This record gives sequence, structure tokens and C-alpha cells, in this order.
Amino acid sequence: MNRMKLAFDLSFTHTEGGWSAPGSWVGAAYPDVRMFTELAIAAERGGIDMLFFGDGTGIPDTWESSMDAAVRHGVQWPRQDMSPFVAAMAQATSRIGFGLTYSSTYMHPFYVARLLNSLDHVTAGRIAFNVVASGRLADAANYGHDGLMDHDSRYERMEEFVEVCRRLWDSVEPGAIVADRETGVFADPSKVHRVDHDGTHFRVAGPLPAVPSPQGRPVLVQAGASPRGIAASAAFADVVFGLGGHLPSQVSHRARLDEALVAAGRAPEDVGILWAIQVVLGETEAEARAKKERMTGSLPPEAVGAYLSYNHGFDFSTLPERFALAEVAEAITEAQATQAGFLQRLIAQRGEDAEMERREFFEEGWRFATGYDQTIAGTPATVADELEKQFAATGSRGGFMVCNPMSMPSSLLDVVHLLVPELRRRGAVGDGYAGTTLRENLLGA
Ligand SMILES: Cc1cc2nc3c(=O)[nH]c(=O)nc-3n(C[C@H](O)[C@H](O)[C@H](O)COP(=O)(O)O)c2cc1C
Repeated sequence: MNRMKLAFDLSFTHTEGGWSAPGSWVGAAYPDVRMFTELAIAAERGGIDMLFFGDGTGIPDTWESSMDAAVRHGVQWPRQDMSPFVAAMAQATSRIGFGLTYSSTYMHPFYVARLLNSLDHVTAGRIAFNVVASGRLADAANYGHDGLMDHDSRYERMEEFVEVCRRLWDSVEPGAIVADRETGVFADPSKVHRVDHDGTHFRVAGPLPAVPSPQGRPVLVQAGASPRGIAASAAFADVVFGLGGHLPSQVSHRARLDEALVAAGRAPEDVGILWAIQVVLGETEAEARAKKERMTGSLPPEAVGAYLSYNHGFDFSTLPERFALAEVAEAITEAQATQAGFLQRLIAQRGEDAEMERREFFEEGWRFATGYDQTIAGTPATVADELEKQFAATGSRGGFMVCNPMSMPSSLLDVVHLLVPELRRRGAVGDGYAGTTLRENLLGA
């Protein structure tokens, strides 16, 4: 039987109101590195396979073409480059893995391949690379672009980006360094190979000026869920990060990924999906429900607008008073923005022809932005029941990524102290780490 894997997303520990919620740190503020080492130690105690960091470099400024709402309410801002934090967390732990996100749309594969090789050394083989295609205008502006690269080209660039990285990671053979004091030979040149990649987006000579890291290459994660995004996952992902919270969409995502994997000549059993979930745990159902109700009012409407507009790359402040979902979808496609997320969910629930009022759109948007509807609130037993149900319905491969904690560190501690013991008691997760590398722990049975 495959066991569930558990990851915890630390992207938004302090934003979207989390910084002031009950159960959040007092006397420490983001980005104090000690907050993160504390989390890593606690998560490792709970056998969490991976701590994960999404990323984006832009401040949400799509809403009304201004970043003020995002800054005022702390919407996805601020965000550090978490790679030095991961290096620090790795020194305080020995088994838990770390997922880092870099944009294949704007960054250069040589830089990213070299950085991740070094981090895999520093962490002794505990790094994953979440390869993202950037669909946000604020990110584009930081790299000198006025608009977005078109959707499918982003994925073509992503696949070439990964191909270059993989060739660089393979460019030096294990055992290249001989360090023979007798002969004075440091390394064997026959084990060090140029790459000479000359493609559509990149020209890279190589080799990487580094020796192979413990994992050889990081675990590769990809999240895009459009047909083109799923084809990219099938091409290279070791594990997929999928939107959770709506089981029929998850079952369909799993089926579409399986089809794409078969078309790419890969075995569907080999690629798990980590479903994004939000959980609120309590010793009793009533306690969990009361905690969940604290979400209400945590984000004012303009913060919701800033959040949704940024994530879709489309300014929802321009919506008319009444509209059909198909019209919004069309406008988004024309703007080369993405429908993934809120709009996709609305269309799945109501159908493309459904009409909506602007007010209703933002009310629903609040529920989406906070994850209110998708949040599973309950005792360890009821939450574990739900996870087991979703895991079985989606092919028992992969597991879950706990996202958008209500407050930190308390939400992580609840998972470690309440949920993990229940899942272990049922044999749904392992008793600890089976191996030393992230590849062994996250991708093993
Ligand atoms: C669960 C999930 C997590 C994502 N994380 C990030 C991220 O951290 N940074 C980012 O720039 N994009 C992120 N993305 C965006 C994807 O890389 C991709 O651009 C987006 O889903 C649109 O692609 P699609 O149309 O194929 O779904 C994420 C997407 C999903 C579904």
C-alpha cells in the first residue's frame, strides 16, 4: 500500500492577515530566520516530508494598477528569496526536505541549476525545485517585460529550461574529483563534459563548475493544470502540486495527468500529486469550527481584489455589474492571463454560461482567497478520514501539501501534535523517515 506523503507550504506564514491572527508569533517578525529554523525542527519531529516555498517577485499590483492595497493588507508581500533560509533550516535538521520555487519564465537555467546543486550539497540531498511558469504582470515588470509571454510559450520555455538544468546536473560524472596527492591530479577531465545547448530560448555551453550533488538533481515539482501545463508535468515532473478542495476536479486532474504520462511514455504510478489542502484542527469538532470562524473578516474586499487580480494576471476591478463567466474567461485568455484558480473553480461549479453580479463575485472571491470553503475543520479523526478519502479517490499516489496556515507556528504544531499521530496510528503515513534524501522520502512507497 502506498503511504501518504505530507508537505507543508510555508509561503504565506505572515501574509493575508496571518501575522496578527491568534496563535501567531509574539516577539518575532518575518523574516527572522529563527522563526524558520523553529518550524523546521517542529516539522521534522512530525515526519513532514517537505517544507515548501512558492515564490513570486512582484508586489500584487494588478488590482486598480496599484500596489497600495497589497502593501496595506500584506497580500503576498513581503517575500524573501528563501534559499539562504533553507540553508539555515537544513543545519538545524537532518531528514526533512525543502522545496524552492524559481521562475522558468524569467530566470536563467544556468544560475538556477548551479544554485540548486549547491543547496543540494548543503542540505545533503534534501532539495526540490518547483518549476513555475510566471503569469503575473508584476513579476514580468521586474524582468524588463511590459506584458506576459503567451501561455503555451511559457511552457515551451519551461521544458527547455528543465532540459538545460538536467544536462548541466549531468555534465560532471560522479567521482570526477580524484584528489590524488601522489600524482598531483585533482580531477579527471574525461568526466567533465560541455553541454553546448543551442535551443530556442537558451544557449548554454556548460559544464556546471560543480561536482554532482547527493541527489544528482533536485526533485522536480510542477503545478500547471491546463492541458499544456499537464503535458509539461508529464514531460519532467517527479511530483505534481495540485489544487485541492474540490474532489471531482482532483479526480479529473489525476485522470488527465495519467493520460499525459502514458502519452509521454512514463508510468502513471511513478508520479504522485500533492494536493493543496487547508486544515483547521481542534481537540473537539466545536473547537475546530470556532477556530475556522476566525477567518471571517480576516481579509477586507480590496485585499481580496488585490489577491485574485494578481493570481490571475487580470484586473477584476474592471468587471461590469453583471456578467457571464464565459465573458470573463474570454477576456482572461485574450490578456494571456490564467484562468487557473478561482475562475476555473467557479466555472467548474456553475458552468460557463452562469451569470454573476460583481458583488457576488467578490463575496465568493473572499471564500476562495481565504480558502474558507475548502478548509477542512475537525478533530484529527475527521480530518484524517477526509484525507484518506481523497487519497483513495485520486489513485493513492502522492499526498497532501498543507497550505495557507491560519497562524504560525500554531497551525504547524497542530498538524504535528494532532493530525500526524492519528495518521500514523492508521498506518496512512510512515512512522518516520525511510531514507536520508528527499527523493527517497517523498517519492518512495
Ligand atoms: C498549486 C499551484 C501552485 C503554484 N505556485 C506558484 C508559485 O509559487 N509561483 C508562481 O509564480 N506560480 C505558481 N503557480 C503557477 C503555475 O506555475 C502556472 O503558471 C499556473 O498554474 C498557470 O498555468 P496553467 O494555466 O497551466 O494552470 C502555481 C500554480 C498552482 C496550481
